[in-house]
Amino acid sequence: MTSPADDAPHGTAPGAAAPEAAAPEVAGRRAADVVLRPLVAADLDVLEDLEEALFGAGAWSRTSLAEEITGPGRWYVGAQDRASGELVGYAGLWFDGYDGQVMTVGTRPDVQGRGVGRMLLDALLAHARELGAGDVLLEVRVDNEPALRLYEGAGFERFGRRKGYYQPENVDAWTMRRRA
Ligand SMILES: CC(C)(COP(=O)(O)OP(=O)(O)OC[C@H]1O[C@@H](n2cnc3c(N)ncnc32)[C@H](O)[C@@H]1OP(=O)(O)O)[C@@H](O)C(=O)NCCC(=O)NCCS
Repeated sequence: MTSPADDAPHGTAPGAAAPEAAAPEVAGRRAADVVLRPLVAADLDVLEDLEEALFGAGAWSRTSLAEEITGPGRWYVGAQDRASGELVGYAGLWFDGYDGQVMTVGTRPDVQGRGVGRMLLDALLAHARELGAGDVLLEVRVDNEPALRLYEGAGFERFGRRKGYYQPENVDAWTMRRRA
């Protein structure tokens, strides 16, 4: 993830019930059955918990999260479980007028590996194209294998390394990009 602005390094017959469409298989596991929707202030409590669970010491503060989801040029989307209504993933894009920047992508640990991350990332890329972005850029911890796999699977390529980008952990970041 990228550091937020002020948190620097960091068809049914009438009357019949609608048939439940089975979620497709993802690598042998059933894909999560989620809908994507914009994030709103009412999500902050859950977002705070997800941040803590997913990023630990590098988690964004509630203030940063609140500023991010409403900030200029920002577009944040959440993945909501259809059955429970719970928010199980989220992602954000920043568009500076030229390029897009993936600010973050996160999936609740018990739902990981079921396609939610890729769905969220694809939504950010589609939005970047709608905005006319040239490239989409991101930073990712060099030791974050699931995220690297997600990004490389979506066509991102490494083009640089930022020393100690993640603080307080003092871990380097790969910078990655692809055409929007
Ligand atoms: C990175 C992350 C968002 C991926 O979300 P996800 O919902 O599990 O992603 P998907 O199910 O769509 O899988 C995407 C790819 O990641 C791979 N992946 C998922 N979990 C993995 C794991 N634990 N180890 C290795 N690869 C993994 C999947 O196999 C898939 O690759 P494939 O298409 O080659 O099979 C999730 O692991 C996460 O929230 N991590 C913690 C937060 C984080 O690090 N975010 C990235 C910030 S830069």
